[in-house]
Amino acid sequence: MTKCIACIGAGYVGGPTMAMIAMKCPQYKVHVVDVNEARIAAWKTDDLPIYEPGLLEVVKAARDRNLFFSTDIDSAIREADIIFVSVNTPTKTFGDGAGRAADLQYWEKVARQIVRVATSPKIVVEKSTLPVKTAQTMEAILNAAGDRTSFEVISNPEFLAEGTAVQDLLHPDRVLIGSRETPAGLKARQEIVDIYANWVPAEKIVTSNVWSAELSKLVANAFLAQRISSINSISALCEKTEASVREVARAVGMDSRVGPRFLNASVGFGGSCFKKDILNLVYICESYGLHEVARYWEGVLAMNEYQESRFVKAMIRYMFNTIVDKRIALFGFAFKADTSDTRQSPAIFVARKLLDERAQVVVTDPRALDNARLDLGDAAAGVQFTDDPYQAARGAHAVAIMTEWELYRSLDWERIYASMEKPAFVFDGRNILDHQKLFGMGFSVFPIGSPPLKHF
Ligand code: NAD
Ligand code: UGA
Repeated sequence: MTKCIACIGAGYVGGPTMAMIAMKCPQYKVHVVDVNEARIAAWKTDDLPIYEPGLLEVVKAARDRNLFFSTDIDSAIREADIIFVSVNTPTKTFGDGAGRAADLQYWEKVARQIVRVATSPKIVVEKSTLPVKTAQTMEAILNAAGDRTSFEVISNPEFLAEGTAVQDLLHPDRVLIGSRETPAGLKARQEIVDIYANWVPAEKIVTSNVWSAELSKLVANAFLAQRISSINSISALCEKTEASVREVARAVGMDSRVGPRFLNASVGFGGSCFKKDILNLVYICESYGLHEVARYWEGVLAMNEYQESRFVKAMIRYMFNTIVDKRIALFGFAFKADTSDTRQSPAIFVARKLLDERAQVVVTDPRALDNARLDLGDAAAGVQFTDDPYQAARGAHAVAIMTEWELYRSLDWERIYASMEKPAFVFDGRNILDHQKLFGMGFSVFPIGSPPLKHF
C-alpha cells in the first residue's frame, strides 16, 4: 500500500468518511481508532455503532482489506502519513464561554498525543468542525516536537448529513481542502486532493486558505439552519392568515436564486451540529467585538426555540388546556429520518414539556428508542417505549409526528383512528401526512404552517 491514513475518532463522521476513502482507494491503508472500545468493537461487526443506509455495504467492501478499526491509537499515529482527526467538538458546558464556545479539550488531547508519539513527518487533517483559527493553536502544540519531526495542518471539513451520509460521501457537492499557502502547505494540500480525486470530479474539489476552510464549515451550517428558521418564522404567520407554508415555500423556492431545498417547515431543527456551530459562530463574533453580527445569528437559534415551544403550547391549548393523564404518542424520536441519532432532537424538548404537564407519554421510533431512553434520563421511567406505532396510538388522545420517517405516511390511519380516544388529535410536526384525508376520517389535524382542521 502506498500510504497509511489514520483517523482518530470513529463516530458519525470518522467511521463513514474513512470507510468511503478505504473503499475508493484500495492503495491506501486506513486505520480508524477511538478511545471508545464498545464503538470500535461494533465497527468490526455487521451491527455497526451508527445506523446509516448503505453504510454496511461500504464498510464490508474494505474491512480487513485496507480498512481496520482498533483502540491502538499510538500505533495508528506512528504508522500514518496522514492523520484525520474527527473527534467531537461539543459546546463548552463549564467556565469561560460556557454554553457557547466550542469545547476543544478532545482535539487538544489528540494533538498532544500525536506530538508525543510521532517519529516521522505527518499531515494532520482537521475533519472535526472547529472555530476559525484553530489550525494556529494546533500548529503551536504540534511544533512543540521541535526538530524531532514536522507537521502540516490541513482543514478538510465534512459536509455530510446523517441519514444520507453514504450518498453525500459518494457524490459530494464539494470537498473543501484548506492549507497554509507555503510550499509545504501546498504540497500537503495536494496529498489530500489526491485522496478525493480517486472518485470526486476535479471541479468539485475546492481548495482555499486554511482559515477560509475552517470558517466555511461554520457558515454552511449557519446558512442551512437560517433557511429552516426563516421558513419556520413564516409558518407562524401562515397559521394566522390562512396561507399555507407548503404553498409559500413552493412558490418562493421556485425562484432559482432561492432554490427549493431546505424549506420544509417543522417543529424545529435538531442534530448535533446546527445549534453548537451557530453558538460557536456567535461566540467567535463576540470575541472579535462584532456584536451586531453575533445578534443576527443568535436570531436563528431563538426562532428555533420559539418553534419548538409554540408546538407544545399549541398541543396543550387545542387539547382543551389540560393534558393531565392523557396518553400522547410521539411518532419518531430521531432528529431526522433514517438515523438513530437523537442529539438535540426537538422530540426531547417536546417529551419533557408534555411530562411536565403530567401527560402519559409513549414514544415510538423504528431506530432511536435506545437513544430516546438515554435522552430522557430519570424521566424515562414515566414514559412507555414501543417500536410499534399502532400500539403507541392505542388509547391515545393525540399522535404527534416528531420525525419524518417514511413509514408514518403509509400507516393504516383508519385503524389508528379507531383505536384512539375521541376527539382524536394529530399534530403533524413534520407536515408529512395527508391532512385533508385524516380530517375526513375524523381526526382533528394540526399541521405546521396552515390553519387547523378541527371537528369542534
Ligand atoms: P461523535 O461523537 O459521533 O464521534 C467522535 C468520536 O471521537 C467518539 O467516538 C469519541 O470516543 C472519539 N474521541 C474523543 N476523544 C478522543 C480521543 N482523545 N482519542 C480518540 N478518540 C476520541 O462525533 P461526530 O458526530 O462524528 O462529530 C465529529 C466532528 O465532526 C464534530 O466536530 C462535528 O461537529 C463534525 N461533524 C459532524 C457531522 C455529523 O453529521 N455528525 C457532520 C459534519 C461534521
Ligand atoms: C447538517 C448539514 O446538513 C450537513 O451539511 C452538516 O455536515 C451537518 O449538519 C453537520 O455539520 O453535522 P444533519 O444535521 O445531519 O446535517 O441533517 P440535516 O439534514 O441538515 O437536518 C438538520 C435538522 O434540520 C433536522 O432536524 C431536520 O429535520 C431539520 N430540517 C431540515 C427541517 O426542519 N427542515 C428542512 O427543510 C430541512
